[in-house]
Amino acid sequence: MKILGIAAPFGHDASAALLVDGKVVAAVEEERFSRRKHAKDECPRQSVKFCLETAGLKPQDIDAVAFPWALSALRQRRWEYFFRTFVSNPSRAYKKFFRNMKEYRGQAAFIARTLRESGFDKHQPQIHWIEHHIAHAASSYFLSGFKTAAVLSIDGGGEITSTLIGRAEGAAISKIKEIVAPDSLGNFYSTMTEYLGFEREDGEYKVMGMAPYGDAWKVNLDHILWWNPRRRTYRCNDDYVWVPRSKRARPDKVYSRKMIKEFGPEREGDELNVPYIHIAAATQRKLEDTTIRLLETYLAQELKSHGNLCFAGGCALNVSLNRILLKHPLVKNLWVQPSSHDAGGSIGAAAYAAAQLGDKIAPMEHVYLGPEFTNAQIEPVLKASGFRFEKCADICETASSLLKDGKIVGWFQGRMEWGPRALGNRSILGNPTIRGTNDRINAIIKFRESWRPFCPSMLKEYASDILGSDHPAPFMTFAFDVAPHWKERIPEAVHVDGTCRPQVVDERHNPKFHRLISLFHKKTRVPVVINTSLNRRGEPMICSPQDAILMFRESGLEYLAIGDYLVKKS
Ligand SMILES: [Fe+2]
Repeated sequence: MKILGIAAPFGHDASAALLVDGKVVAAVEEERFSRRKHAKDECPRQSVKFCLETAGLKPQDIDAVAFPWALSALRQRRWEYFFRTFVSNPSRAYKKFFRNMKEYRGQAAFIARTLRESGFDKHQPQIHWIEHHIAHAASSYFLSGFKTAAVLSIDGGGEITSTLIGRAEGAAISKIKEIVAPDSLGNFYSTMTEYLGFEREDGEYKVMGMAPYGDAWKVNLDHILWWNPRRRTYRCNDDYVWVPRSKRARPDKVYSRKMIKEFGPEREGDELNVPYIHIAAATQRKLEDTTIRLLETYLAQELKSHGNLCFAGGCALNVSLNRILLKHPLVKNLWVQPSSHDAGGSIGAAAYAAAQLGDKIAPMEHVYLGPEFTNAQIEPVLKASGFRFEKCADICETASSLLKDGKIVGWFQGRMEWGPRALGNRSILGNPTIRGTNDRINAIIKFRESWRPFCPSMLKEYASDILGSDHPAPFMTFAFDVAPHWKERIPEAVHVDGTCRPQVVDERHNPKFHRLISLFHKKTRVPVVINTSLNRRGEPMICSPQDAILMFRESGLEYLAIGDYLVKKS
């Protein structure tokens, strides 16, 4: 079957993914084409076109379209939402209860527009409406390769649900527990993210990066998010979390005046300061403790029998949380969808629909599912750019020598990555052994907060020695404690708490990147490079050679290894 997944239903992170006979052949986020981060209010028309072109298909070849939103999910749980909110927020309660057809029509219009703008004028495929959290769970379970697994999906909120806990076997995902908004771990974390001075639904990873600098015990958030043992669930305080307009400190922010009164004004600037570092630490701690509580309450029996956990939803991008999950005695194998946020809904909905239609879903072994460009396509762009460039006999050899000498190198090769992490095809690389490498990357191109860590990519053959773990980690979705004897050797890859968020590079899935690191290892005896995404601050990851040249021109980057070419400024 040829199943096209499109996303996303909530006005951000539009994407498309295509499964042919159970195998993901293409997946991409619209932001990479439109060059607007998170593709707000865009439909994924360029992404759909790319998916069809990659597979050599026409719209009429598509058997079904899958979308990660379902009216049934909204209807089933609207009473629960109504009773939960009609005192604290009556207007939201009534809106959600009575306007669900309006919501449905909005989603149907989004799908119709996407298909129309993607060339589906005559052919109208069958639409599979997949519950939002089932799509998240499916994006992890079906692509994990596990036969049986416990599944966890946590985000800000889908149709109405914010947390789904379940089990999966064969083609079925069954629910064990659902938690309905406004009780929402994702919204709690996003609200705190905004209060801490970052953009919500974007800067959550910065709160996570800030957390190790603070002391979680110095701030009490128990009145904002707490565990209710009688109901065996968590609760959020409606006076603090994603508050209605009447309670907001500022109309465009979702934290409340009460929050300001209690903790002080919203954090500003790029520095680390008290009490905000402690608030970040307490926020992270709440997320971790509550998730572990959910796991132990609802999944203990399930995990005792096989130990496989699949995790997705926006909160699954929190690598520090995943580190805690991975350390839990019930969890033997953890698989996290690399695109766990709403962009991953396209791949999840498509995988779920394909499985229901009888396809066997192939595990997702790599993320190289986006556009690629040949030397013949790259060279004219370089010629037109006016930059000095040369064709190298061995670009890996050239780039590894530059890295050895402490140079920062843009690395553009093969198919662009699916998901927010650069995994060696659209990367900026540096030498982790030279102190100051991260500062230089920040100074010439990234301009990010100086306290935020950079991630390492390491050869699979040495990963267990560096990380003290054999657990697969191909997608930068987990943090690990760095072994003491490596901390001094790769200081630029280690965060202040002694952890790193690695990509373990397997030759099978990215031979060119593996070879580059191998050559660097040969020259330095260190099998690790610093790897951050190829883009400037606030812009989506680079997609095309034209994007790369524009970024190169407007940044302080001096070397760009693109295809077999090395572009130089000096
Ligand atoms: Fe979601």
